[in-house]
Amino acid sequence: MAKSYTNPILPGWNSDPSCTFVSEHNTFFCTTSSFLAFPGIPIYASKDLTDWRLASNALNRPEQLPELSFNGQQNEGIWASTIRYRNGTFYLITSYISFAKWQPKLLLFTTTDPYDDSAWSDPVHVENPANDIDPDIFWDDDGKTYMSIAAGVYISEINTSTGAATEPFRVWNGTGDRNPEGPHIYKKDGYYYLLIGEGGTETNHSATIARSRDIRGPYEGDPNNPLLTAKDTDNYFQTVGHADLFQDAKGNWWGVALATRSGPAWEVYPMGRETVLVPAKWEEGQWPVLEPVRGRMSGPLLTKNKDIPGDGHWVDDPDIVDFPPGSVLPKHFAFWRPPKTSLFSISPPGHPNTLRISPSRVNLTADAAFQPLVDGLAFVARKQLATLFDYSVDVSFNPKVADEEAGISVFLTQLQHIDLGIVNLPDKHTGNFVPTLRFRVEASGKPNTTVPDTNLFPLPRSWLKGPIRLSVSAKKDDTYVFSAAPASKPREVKVVGEASAGIVSGGSGPFTGTLVGAYATSNGGEGTTPTYFSRWRYTAVAQEIEEGEFVHAR
Ligand SMILES: *[C@@H]1O[C@H](CO)[C@@H](O)[C@H](O)[C@H]1NC(C)=O
Ligand SMILES: *[C@@H]1O[C@H](CO)[C@@H](O)[C@H](O)[C@H]1NC(C)=O
Ligand SMILES: *[C@@H]1O[C@H](CO)[C@@H](O)[C@H](O)[C@H]1NC(C)=O
Ligand SMILES: *[C@@H]1O[C@H](CO)[C@@H](O)[C@H](O)[C@H]1NC(C)=O
Ligand SMILES: *[C@@H]1O[C@H](CO)[C@@H](O)[C@H](O)[C@H]1NC(C)=O
Ligand SMILES: *[C@@H]1O[C@H](CO)[C@@H](O)[C@H](O)[C@H]1NC(C)=O
Repeated sequence: MAKSYTNPILPGWNSDPSCTFVSEHNTFFCTTSSFLAFPGIPIYASKDLTDWRLASNALNRPEQLPELSFNGQQNEGIWASTIRYRNGTFYLITSYISFAKWQPKLLLFTTTDPYDDSAWSDPVHVENPANDIDPDIFWDDDGKTYMSIAAGVYISEINTSTGAATEPFRVWNGTGDRNPEGPHIYKKDGYYYLLIGEGGTETNHSATIARSRDIRGPYEGDPNNPLLTAKDTDNYFQTVGHADLFQDAKGNWWGVALATRSGPAWEVYPMGRETVLVPAKWEEGQWPVLEPVRGRMSGPLLTKNKDIPGDGHWVDDPDIVDFPPGSVLPKHFAFWRPPKTSLFSISPPGHPNTLRISPSRVNLTADAAFQPLVDGLAFVARKQLATLFDYSVDVSFNPKVADEEAGISVFLTQLQHIDLGIVNLPDKHTGNFVPTLRFRVEASGKPNTTVPDTNLFPLPRSWLKGPIRLSVSAKKDDTYVFSAAPASKPREVKVVGEASAGIVSGGSGPFTGTLVGAYATSNGGEGTTPTYFSRWRYTAVAQEIEEGEFVHAR
């Protein structure tokens, strides 16, 4: 029985999906790219393909990848991964990229318990003879383990215990578009099928497929390639490509891919590349056929089932986070690179139900001397998950010296973020320092963007008695509205600034998507005053699923 569902299935910044169905768990597992986010390499679990729960983060201890703590470019870090399951063990193979030297590190993580962060292994470092990205792992019937890898696809045999890889053989260059990458191998009906992405991850993106009787080739392309694309269309879902295929318990085939909700203009897409699901047909001996990506689709979905263990966040649930004593940050909260942990404390003595953030020397933009582990970036966030949303947090902050600041941000990268802070600034007339609302946009990562003016608004004396509620909402698909109010009198709300979502689309963050969260900084000054954040609320209001068509966020 076909049931209807809406895309994306993993909304918000969730690119390069890789998914597999594990019959022993009767559960689908997916992973997406996390770049500099820490914890990273999220594993999502679902029994019905539409309700997804964050099961764990494979990358959850800084020691698993010390390199992630180094300062570099904004789109470095963990790129596309492949998740597979074999004989009781989950395998997650991925690459870590730094632009300082093009030498992708291939990492193979394993676990037998995908619901427990701490059960994920330290990575085995796999040799990278092709010196490239996007590794896939595949087991042949004879027990041999193969890794395929971009670009212009290479295959090596690998040893999953030692990470040794054989001299790679080059198997397919795709159909002729640039960047043949993101390979996955499947064996079916006596053929090795090689599914890849092509055209680059922008609007020319596609998924194409080839097959061979021998893993070494020769591979012949599907005459009907591309299997999936939005290239040269007016579709709302653009950049479709980087796919993976899997079967459910009833034998139905499905495809996942990344897509961007931008329309062909491809200018405003703050959530970046998201994960979409399409029904597939794959008859014996034939090529697979995937339905084109749409916002509203139907397929042979299973009955709704939210029987997934663990304490992870359901992707569509709101955040109602009050930081009670003894709690830890929810698993779907993220830092930009592993945090300087001393800057963060939940319910410290005398301040129950708060998250204390001590200021970092640097603001969110930081400076050339920034050292992530020494200075820290005093910022914690969650993904923007819906086209329309409301986020607010209460801020208790009594700044003492010049330039101390605490606030909220819609953040794509350190070079593209929109902030509403409370900052200690001199009063125009008296020169005395007063806590002042400051709305300010950093857009250096996207030259030639129209940037709204900085707005300053000294806090009324009557607001200073208690916490200030700072909020940001996307009321339209292309505009953020930032507001402030006394937490005790939320109706006294004042709009402090508005900014286009285009500011946090592309630019220095072409592969990532926006985060929404809270920060504290001394802006390079003498300040050390901590901020106590409380009553953290995030609500997904609506998803745009076709140009101008909105549905309630699930
Ligand atoms: C599967 O795992 C079991 C237990 O670890 C092991 O004894 C067996 O050899 C494994 N089978 C294969 C095919 O790897
Ligand atoms: C992997 O390497 C180890 C150590 O050299 C060896 O004992 C093991 O047999 C190798 N595994 C395979 C599948 O070749
Ligand atoms: C892929 O392209 C490279 C470089 O042009 C070429 O050397 C190689 O033979 C091609 N491989 C295949 C399998 O077509
Ligand atoms: C897409 O392909 C066309 C034709 O090859 C090319 O002109 C255009 O620059 C490409 N666009 C991107 C974003 O790569
Ligand atoms: C961040 O701090 C630097 C000084 O360290 C300052 O030049 C810059 O204007 C600040 N940017 C923002 C967005 O606060
Ligand atoms: C920004 O505008 C300037 C002047 O029009 C132009 O030279 C430059 O190439 C533009 N930069 C980008 C990244 O578009």
